[in-house]
Amino acid sequence: MFFDRPEDGHRALLLHLDLVGVQAPDPSETKELAEGAGLEVVATITGKRQTPHSRYFVGTGKLEEVRELLKAEGGEVLLLNHDIGAGQQRNLEKTLDVRVMPRTELILHIFADRARTHEGQLQVELAQLQHAQSRLVKGWTHLDRQKGGIGLRGAGEKQIEMDQRMLGERLKSARARLDEVAARRARGRERRARQNTRTVALVGYTNAGKSTLFNALTAGGVVAEDRLFATLDPTMRALPMKGVGDVVLADTVGFISHLPHTLVEAFKATLEEVAHADLLLHLVNAASPDAAEQIHQVQDVLTEIGADRVPMLAVLNKVDMLSPEQAQERLPDLDQQLARFARESATDGASTQPTHRAVRASALTGEGLSDVLDAVEQRLGESRERLLVHLHAGDGATRAWLYAEGAVLAEEVQDDGMLVLQVQADERLVAHLESRSGVKLSTYTVAAEPSSVVPGEPPPLQEGEGIPRISPLPN
Ligand code: GTP
Repeated sequence: MFFDRPEDGHRALLLHLDLVGVQAPDPSETKELAEGAGLEVVATITGKRQTPHSRYFVGTGKLEEVRELLKAEGGEVLLLNHDIGAGQQRNLEKTLDVRVMPRTELILHIFADRARTHEGQLQVELAQLQHAQSRLVKGWTHLDRQKGGIGLRGAGEKQIEMDQRMLGERLKSARARLDEVAARRARGRERRARQNTRTVALVGYTNAGKSTLFNALTAGGVVAEDRLFATLDPTMRALPMKGVGDVVLADTVGFISHLPHTLVEAFKATLEEVAHADLLLHLVNAASPDAAEQIHQVQDVLTEIGADRVPMLAVLNKVDMLSPEQAQERLPDLDQQLARFARESATDGASTQPTHRAVRASALTGEGLSDVLDAVEQRLGESRERLLVHLHAGDGATRAWLYAEGAVLAEEVQDDGMLVLQVQADERLVAHLESRSGVKLSTYTVAAEPSSVVPGEPPPLQEGEGIPRISPLPN
């Protein structure tokens, strides 16, 4: 059976307790999240305890303090910077007669609010149902909208009168639908692996500028908003890259500290995409005074989802907001921190992992974006070798195929009429070339100039417009 709950509202009192041996999130982060979600945090109350009080989480003295402050400030919600037991939550609601919102409920609300695609909504629904099952509460969203409260939407709204049996059925069905999603994603990954299409996943603390960068790089239609969690569903788009071919860029969910477990589990399909990516583009809001802490949080989430060993390229974003002095003072430290993270994540220990300096950029003004692309190309191209492909001038099919793969860096027609293309090729490409008759491969040791060739149709032969000539050719 479910328990009724007091209705909620906008005005919240935030409660944080320092508990021995418990590492709670920073209350200022929770406050920011709450305000991004439409709550007004009218006051913050803090305290210290050895262990939580068994009945009310806070001690009886603090409870009276909370009661008085709620009254004085007209507080409608008691927001907790913690997750508390279902019994403690019920007892608090009963005695204070206001909605008590543990941090997980706040995060679930934010995710519900931000989920845009069917998949995102399904994932939030599962997380909410799991949470509801652990609480056996009803009325999460009871008339919330009319009252102007935030409550929990989506699954919560529909499960008001749901009993335990129905909840179980909904959970089963949500899990089954999400299994389908996960299977579909896995098939997509397999297909990309077969085609050797690389996936680059954008990760970063919420509000770092991921959607903005994603849009700037792909000129796509993802909505970027100055609100926390603008992104809930990975949106994928192909990005043509010189020397590497089509790369899939995936925009992902915004990270926060202490991501509730129900969410990590529910968002498995999305987070798996991150764990299986070929490269992570870790976007850091370099303008935030909390940037160092946020890098740390992202690091923790990546470790938690098993993505800490995926190669990473860091981008220090929002540099347009920094004065030259601030940039000089702040960016080298962030660089160091990111390099340390890269070393710690290296499978073979510190000495073997090359450290790459973070790229400075502004997704908003476009500054440094070509450096971001160059760095991604370079990182992805590291596993490709440079070769010279010798073709008969009449072999337009092989030439067109290499262009379509985005593998061509430069080309030249020799005096004997043979066509020589300088390409960047991985194993699959080399194997394919070796299987074609009349094609000869040779190694190329001279470093080439960066190419401006992007995948697509080959240009008219001989005219050489825009295509760098191979220079110098090895003997
Ligand atoms: P989540 O989806 O919450 O994880 O956010 P996000 O990382 O996708 O951030 P988003 O792209 O939505 O950007 C958040 C806010 O920062 C928006 O208001 C952007 O306009 C702004 N922003 C993003 N990049 C830059 C930048 O380089 N400079 C400045 N000044 N603002 C930026």
